Amino acid sequence: MAYAAGVDVGSTQTKAVVVDEAGLIVARCLTETGANVTRAADAAFTEALASGGLREEEVEYVIGTGYGRYNVTFGNAQVTEISCHGRGAVRMFPDTRTVVDMGGQDTKAIRVSPSGEIIDFCMNDKCAAGTGRFLGAASSALDIPLDRLGPTALEGQRPVKISTTCTVFAESEILSWLGKGKKIEDILLGVHQSIAARAAGLLRRVGVEEQVTFTGGVAKNSAMIRTLGDRLGVRLNVSDESHYMGAFGAALFALDHVLTSRLPAAARGGRS
Ligand SMILES: Nc1ncnc2c1ncn2[C@@H]1O[C@H](COP(=O)(O)OP(=O)(O)OP(=O)(O)O)[C@@H](O)[C@H]1O
Ligand SMILES: [Mg+2]
Repeated sequence: MAYAAGVDVGSTQTKAVVVDEAGLIVARCLTETGANVTRAADAAFTEALASGGLREEEVEYVIGTGYGRYNVTFGNAQVTEISCHGRGAVRMFPDTRTVVDMGGQDTKAIRVSPSGEIIDFCMNDKCAAGTGRFLGAASSALDIPLDRLGPTALEGQRPVKISTTCTVFAESEILSWLGKGKKIEDILLGVHQSIAARAAGLLRRVGVEEQVTFTGGVAKNSAMIRTLGDRLGVRLNVSDESHYMGAFGAALFALDHVLTSRLPAAARGGRS
């Protein structure tokens, strides 16, 4: 049995996935990217191998993706995260035509063809107001762990209207709502609605065609799934592997290479 791997070095978290010859995930690892990007890539890959009981020699090809893809020093090639999220999403949900990847620093709206090729994409520029970083600011302002943000927001009844469009000011706006006696649940529901509105604007720029698949770490957040789906008027595809979708797509590109290299030269398009 041969294996292939993808390592997605994101601005916030690094994900590694190993797939078998059928393209099924057999091992994975998630770690913080931190200041030493190369070390994070190494650690994610090594720990993924250990979690699957695999040896490095068994993995024939590795593709790096994400903002730190060139720091995957043991990788054989690099592919952009847009292509990798598109590929992973279409493999996981074959009827996907639109992908929204919400990560720590960026939100990307991607239109894909039925075979998973990228038709168009759009991403937030320098502004992190529609991304995981905005949620990180809310998490520290309210002293609520990231994984409690969604469930808490879903208890909100009267969402506040968040007016700041800048992550830098998000914390002080949240604190000022607290000072006015607003409930944490209502503030958080407002925060999620404000991020959903920005992401929906980005998605409309590429055109929202169903099915829509939600990827990236923020897809772990139940309130984001609900508010973005409501805003778009569609049901979003989400899987347990959504956070790993970029690494999964990279592993599938790596697997293409493994399988093609086994074909006779004539079938690969070369001279016999
Ligand atoms: N368990 C969780 N519950 C809720 N949110 C989470 C959870 N884990 C991660 N997140 C969110 O996911 C974000 C990280 O997502 P991801 O790993 O996709 O980002 P990244 O790839 O590092 O960033 P980018 O793609 O912008 O470079 C965090 O900032 C956080 O907001
Ligand atoms: Mg990412």
